[in-house]
Amino acid sequence: MLTTELSRRLGMTVPIFGAPMAGAMHGELAGAISRAGGLGLVGVGNKADEAFVRREAAIASDHGNRAFGIGLQLWAVDNQPGVVEAVAEAKPHVVSLSFGSAAKYREIFHSTTIAKQVNTIEDVKQAEDEGVDIIVAQGTDAGGHTGYQGTLPLLQAVLEHTTKPVVAAGGIGTGKGVAAVLAAGAQAAWIGTRFLGAIEAANTPAARKRVLDATGQDTVLTRVFDRALGLDWPHRYPGRALANDTSDQWHGREDDLDDEIRQRVREAQQNEDYDRAVVYAGQAAAFVTRQQSAKEIVDVLATEAERCLRAAAELCD
Ligand SMILES: Cc1cc2nc3c(=O)[nH]c(=O)nc-3n(C[C@H](O)[C@H](O)[C@H](O)COP(=O)(O)O)c2cc1C
Repeated sequence: MLTTELSRRLGMTVPIFGAPMAGAMHGELAGAISRAGGLGLVGVGNKADEAFVRREAAIASDHGNRAFGIGLQLWAVDNQPGVVEAVAEAKPHVVSLSFGSAAKYREIFHSTTIAKQVNTIEDVKQAEDEGVDIIVAQGTDAGGHTGYQGTLPLLQAVLEHTTKPVVAAGGIGTGKGVAAVLAAGAQAAWIGTRFLGAIEAANTPAARKRVLDATGQDTVLTRVFDRALGLDWPHRYPGRALANDTSDQWHGREDDLDDEIRQRVREAQQNEDYDRAVVYAGQAAAFVTRQQSAKEIVDVLATEAERCLRAAAELCD
């Protein structure tokens, strides 16, 4: 059995978080990861409302009977009336407050463990000042919105700069990756992309197929989809997505996007035409090769990580 101080504190039997993923990690998947011994966080997207939070939290927690978490995109919550309050009322065990300042939410979540994803060393100091309990070092290998440093360099630096529990995110798609970050000193892995192949995921079947078919080289870090869809993501957070016709043509030329192109991308999103619409996914897409239940994924990651760590221990005499 794999256990860390943090996993014991949160009642997890496996030190694996199901990372919040808007549009993919809803209540069913988050709940399935928690049931399997990890802890799943419902991803609240920047257009989600309080009814979404209530509904998905009830599913994830099995109406209050199971540990779970919720992840917010802070840059957007001021335009989502009632969402923060609904999250507090849902009493998640962990709330992830990322992509903005967590300071003003410390009070409302005073009895909840607060996690925050960081992308630079400067972010670590800020997260500590904001009263965050868990620092999630999110490397650029990650799917979705992220920074520019690779997971391993960032993780090593973050571990040197804080005494708070550190969790590693970005590109962890196998037990080998889980073992690597635990051996380095992370208290858990924060995994998104690998769960995009889960049967319980809320992504569309067509988007899931794209991830299943993708390799680790098929992603691009870009602002093109946010610009095309008119989303005001802060400039410092580009998104890692599967490359497609839209990114091939417009990445780096975002200022040239005109209304006709924007309209086309919006329509593609509605029609699930992923040659043009975005599928957020990270470099760990390489390890999503077939559909599996969340439990199968958690079990296989934990078993392989344990095997790797036992083998690694033999390197020391
Ligand atoms: C499809 C998708 C959607 C995401 N949405 C969110 C989100 O809404 N909030 C958030 O904090 N992080 C979001 N992320 C980032 C994840 O929480 C996490 O950092 C990332 O998935 C970890 O890297 P990995 O994808 O390589 O496992 C998203 C990631 C993906 C792949």
